[in-house]
Amino acid sequence: MIIAIDGPAASGKGTLARQLAAQYGYHYLDTGSIYRAVAFGILQAGKDPEDLATALDIAKNLDMSTIRDPDLRTDAVGNAASIVAKQPEVREAVLDYQRRFAKRSPGAVLDGRDIGTIVCPDADIKLFVTAEDEERARRRFEELKGRGHATTLEKVVADLIARDERDKTREISPLKPAEDAHLLDTTELSIEAAFGAACAIVERVLEADA
Ligand code: DC
Repeated sequence: MIIAIDGPAASGKGTLARQLAAQYGYHYLDTGSIYRAVAFGILQAGKDPEDLATALDIAKNLDMSTIRDPDLRTDAVGNAASIVAKQPEVREAVLDYQRRFAKRSPGAVLDGRDIGTIVCPDADIKLFVTAEDEERARRRFEELKGRGHATTLEKVVADLIARDERDKTREISPLKPAEDAHLLDTTELSIEAAFGAACAIVERVLEADA
């Protein structure tokens, strides 16, 4: 069983993916963390995120046990990750790991930008999670503030919009819903309500398959 969850930054897809994995006893992979880990390595080395040779070297030798490092969660790393993720060679270098992860038994939930379209086009269930820009920025701002990061709501809005634009308009694996994805707008939904809506979609698909 593969559940693919895509959507823009701070749409609530990560929280949903984690909750669904816990609910159904599946493995969970936050694929954005992979690109963040590559970007973090580049920034640590004092290099430019556009530097393909360095990005590729780090991507090919990435230790996947580092992708949960809390230092990856800043907006600076998120922006650099979005730049790194434009490079076809970098995407290719981390694709196989994601596809192998998706096959883990008894099931896996992966979230990202291209899971339903490229990584797992045959996923059993695809969700595309969205929320309005202002609401996404508010959530991300609260999250960063909670972790003690000094920033402003205006900067968070600008960063999110620029990052989404780059992710949507890149040539390879752009952020977009798969044709067979279920759309879930979380703008007006609490975390609990969004989880309930996602579970209802999953249950419908599981029942239809039974
Ligand atoms: O989900 P996130 O915000 O942690 O992702 C950081 C960046 O990584 C995002 O702006 C684009 C890139 N990304 C991607 O290109 N493909 C994915 N499947 C996941 C993330």
